Order: sequence, then C-alpha cells, then structure tokens
Amino acid sequence: MINPNDIKELAGRFLPDVVEVRRHMHTHPELSFQEFETSAYIQSKLTEWGIPFKNNIVKTGIVATIEGKNPQSKTIALRADIDALPIVEENDVSYKSVNTGVMHACGHDAHTSSLLGAARILNTLKNNFEGTVRMLFQPGEERIPGGAKLMIEEGVLDNPRPHSILGQHVLPQLEAGKVGFKGGMFMASADEIYVNVHGKGGHGAMPHLAIDPVLIAAHIVVALQQMVSRRSNPLVPTVLTFGKVVANGSTNIIPNEVYMEGTFRTMNEEWRAKAHEIMKTTAESLAQSMGATCEFKILKGYPFLVNDEDLTERARQAAIEFLGADNVVQLESRMTAEDFAYYTQLMPACFYRLGTGNLARNITSGIHTPTFDIDESSLETGMGLMAYLAIKELAL
Ligand code: NI
Repeated sequence: MINPNDIKELAGRFLPDVVEVRRHMHTHPELSFQEFETSAYIQSKLTEWGIPFKNNIVKTGIVATIEGKNPQSKTIALRADIDALPIVEENDVSYKSVNTGVMHACGHDAHTSSLLGAARILNTLKNNFEGTVRMLFQPGEERIPGGAKLMIEEGVLDNPRPHSILGQHVLPQLEAGKVGFKGGMFMASADEIYVNVHGKGGHGAMPHLAIDPVLIAAHIVVALQQMVSRRSNPLVPTVLTFGKVVANGSTNIIPNEVYMEGTFRTMNEEWRAKAHEIMKTTAESLAQSMGATCEFKILKGYPFLVNDEDLTERARQAAIEFLGADNVVQLESRMTAEDFAYYTQLMPACFYRLGTGNLARNITSGIHTPTFDIDESSLETGMGLMAYLAIKELAL
C-alpha cells in the first residue's frame, strides 16, 4: 500500500506546474461545448506527462487511463468539468480572462488542473497499485442537457463499468486545505421554466377594454408558490423562483404580454413529475379563467445528486487520514444542481467539496460572481486527496 506521505510529497512537487495549468485555463476560458482550446491544452499536458487518453468524446471531452499492476482487477473513475461561464471577470490578476465575457467563475479550472495533477501522481505511482484509474475531462457542465449525460451516452462508463466514481467541486465558503462530505441526497434536480402570458394591451385608464397580462402573471407567480407551500410534502425540499418578469408597458400602457423565467428544484423524481403537471395546469387554467392564454414550458434539467453512503463514508475516513480530522467537515445538502448527478444515478458515486477560500487574504467571493477566485494552495489538496482516494478505493 502506498504511504500517504509519498502522495503528499508528489503533490507538493507538482503544485507549481498545476498552478500554471490552472492559470492558463483561467486566462483562456471557453463556454460549454466550445472548449476546443481547453481540450487541446489538457491533451498537451497528458502527452507531456506520458498519460494515454482518448479524445473527441462529445467533441471536446477526454478520457485518460492509467493502468497499475493487474489493470483488469478493478476500475475507478475520476471526473472534472472543463467549461466556463458567460461572466465578465472583474479580478485584477495576472491570469485574468482574456476572453472578455467568459470566465472560469465556477472553479472548473481548479477541478481540471487538480485532476491533471492527480493523474500525474497516479502515473508516477502506477507500479505501486493494482487496477485502473479512468479520468473523465467533461465538457458542458453548465448547460442543459449536460456534458455528463452525453459522455455517458458515448460509453465512457462502459467496458468495463467502473466500480465507483469520484468528483470534486470548489467551495469558497470553506477554507483552502479543508474538504467537505455529505452522504446520501446532496444536490437538487433543476428545471428551467419559460412562461408567456398573452393578454390584450390597451390604455391604462381603460382596463375593461384590455386583458391585463401583468395582473394575471402576478396571480400565476403567487398561485405557484401556493403549490410549494400547500401541495408539496413539507419533508421534500422544493424551491420555485421566478427571476425574470418582463412586462414592457408603461405607467399608462397595458402591454400585450408578459414573459417570465424561473427555476424549479426538488429532490424527489415522482414529485418533480407531478409538480411539472400542477404548475402547467395552474398557470394555464388561471390565465384562461381571466380571459388570457398562457404558454408554460418546462425544460427538464439535471436530476438530483445522491452520494453513495458507504463510498462517501470511506472517502471521508480516507480524507481524515490524509488531511487530519480538523480539515474534514460535514456538509448540508443544497438546492444547487450539478450534472455529476447523472453518474450518481448509475453507480456508487461521491461528489465532495474542496475548500478554496481564504478569509485572511480576502478570497471569499461566491461561485458564479465576477470576483470569484481561489486560494491556489487548495490545488495541492485537490490533486493529492483525489489521487489518494482513488488508490484507497482500488485497494479495497
Ligand atoms: Ni460548477
């Protein structure tokens, strides 16, 4: 069995290179499913470090393979996402995005550079462990239908099916050097809602001659919250948020129509399907009862993400061995979503969080904000722990 100190020593030695990889990616971010330069860059690093891979999976995805001794004995999968977000970066740093309007604001540069670092560690130690490590560099996490779903459809989990899969995500609220775990239900399903309420515009002083879509849209928003509080089981987490309401009339103009966008999140597939029906029926019949019409469209997003209890507990214990008990925290479940959920529906999976914040250095901005950044010392934890968890699972 490999000594954790050997992995730590390699993680420390590879850190400068991994920071350079992270900074290169941060400077050159690309949007979901357009990660062509990013993909070429990852491939160049794998080639440089002598790690075999297959490219052109969902165009920009890559699967790298490291075979230890007796490679058929067991396979463990590790996953990182590679895409960035449509955000204008506001950080004043040497590695600021040069693709204006695109930014690694969700830390996928940290996930990918950590996985590359883990790959290099595992490749260095491959004569000291048994089995195979399969590393997925996955495009399009930020965009429905999700690169995870498409990679699975292209067979990245076949021949042979890995025993389990691990993935990590940055968490700026957690200090660098720490990691967090939560077994069981961890993240929500997320669906996008698009609503058009068609009324009849007119003069604001003569509402009786118009059909006011603004008032009707307001009724719909309130009525759908009634579903959240009165129709859903209080024990099943449910969130409905409308973040966009466009009624382009004026003080004295009733517009023809109102357009709205929202998100629906929960942690139960049966309720999810039923809620879709209730929302559509409620909105359409409410509009109709008031003389308007309503188009209610739901774009189904990612399913809920469930961590395998046993695997997550083993990973938590291994993290305590590797980082010390003070650096391993218990997390709550959360209503954000992740396409890693697709992997968790198919096999034992563990999605854990990597602390990347640093209060003293004022690195505290949340993900998906223009000032998000990471304490890069977290990459040493990110690559080292991931390599260690893979080796522990293979040895089981
Ligand atoms: Ni993300």
